[in-house]
Amino acid sequence: MSSFPVTRLRRLRRTAGLRSLVRETRLDLDAFVMPLFVAPADEPNEALPPMSRRSVESLVREGEELQRLGVRAVLLFGIPESKDDEGSGAWDEDGIVQRGLRALRAACPDLVLLTDVCLCEYTAHGHCGVLDGDAVANDETLELLARTAVSHVEAGADAVAPSDMMDGRVSAIRAALDDAGAAETPIVSYAAKYASAFYGPFREAAGSAPSFGDRRGYQMDPANVREALRECELDVAEGADVLMVKPALPNLDVIRAVRERFDVPVAAYNVSGEYGMVRAAAARGWMDERQAALESLTAIRRAGADLVVSYWTKDLARWL
Ligand code: PBG
Repeated sequence: MSSFPVTRLRRLRRTAGLRSLVRETRLDLDAFVMPLFVAPADEPNEALPPMSRRSVESLVREGEELQRLGVRAVLLFGIPESKDDEGSGAWDEDGIVQRGLRALRAACPDLVLLTDVCLCEYTAHGHCGVLDGDAVANDETLELLARTAVSHVEAGADAVAPSDMMDGRVSAIRAALDDAGAAETPIVSYAAKYASAFYGPFREAAGSAPSFGDRRGYQMDPANVREALRECELDVAEGADVLMVKPALPNLDVIRAVRERFDVPVAAYNVSGEYGMVRAAAARGWMDERQAALESLTAIRRAGADLVVSYWTKDLARWL
């Protein structure tokens, strides 16, 4: 191997043109998914605009604008009018996500519609499943998640993304979709989802913070990577079509490990806290939002993610 002065790595960094010729990782809007929140009424979020709650009408306007900008896919979350212990709003045929889906499906035929399948936005206690005492009952929750997934597909979802972290949910959802005649609908599994502080802004936006305790009894311990691979292995065996790692930036090593071990597409969720930290720092003049966002998203792709869910997706459409 030659060394200095024969080799000078700065030669290829000299101009923007040279740098772009040898760039290893590129951002392509096709790989990005924009999260959207549908609610009974509009509630703009000034500090974190993508986390605004949108009525069905403004959801449709936003979908149309995203489609015009070239965004391919959205991930839909619902904030229901009322909540109960079971989270029955999640599978209500006339529920908020189902109404949003039908409207978006009609107005934006080319947009890929993904839905988050979870009960935490719909349960009065804010946990991701039904309770048995203070614990979330795994097996009793599975049927409710499966029902929710089927109702999303019946309302027009192209793919469902379970985010609850119950054991066995992928096979329960797969079986229910197959029974409902939706054998061709893919499951994007939040396979390695950590119990993370970085979901803070989302929980405020979605009104889904647990009313007691935390989610450590079902979401993963951020200290573990081998366990993430076991989660992925089980989900692939149960029929997951895409494996997701979440949050993204604190877990780039996990994204890389999943990429190397499995041949299914790997997704990463650049979560609300990752977005919010940069927005807060940019508002104080400590960082340039665009540069910090592009650097973050490039790092997530470089780590091995094929697709990325990010609150910057709409901005990215303008930046690229
Ligand atoms: C659960 C869900 C959460 C997020 C996506 N799906 C919150 C949680 O697990 O508490 C977080 C996304 C984000 O922070 O952007 N329905």
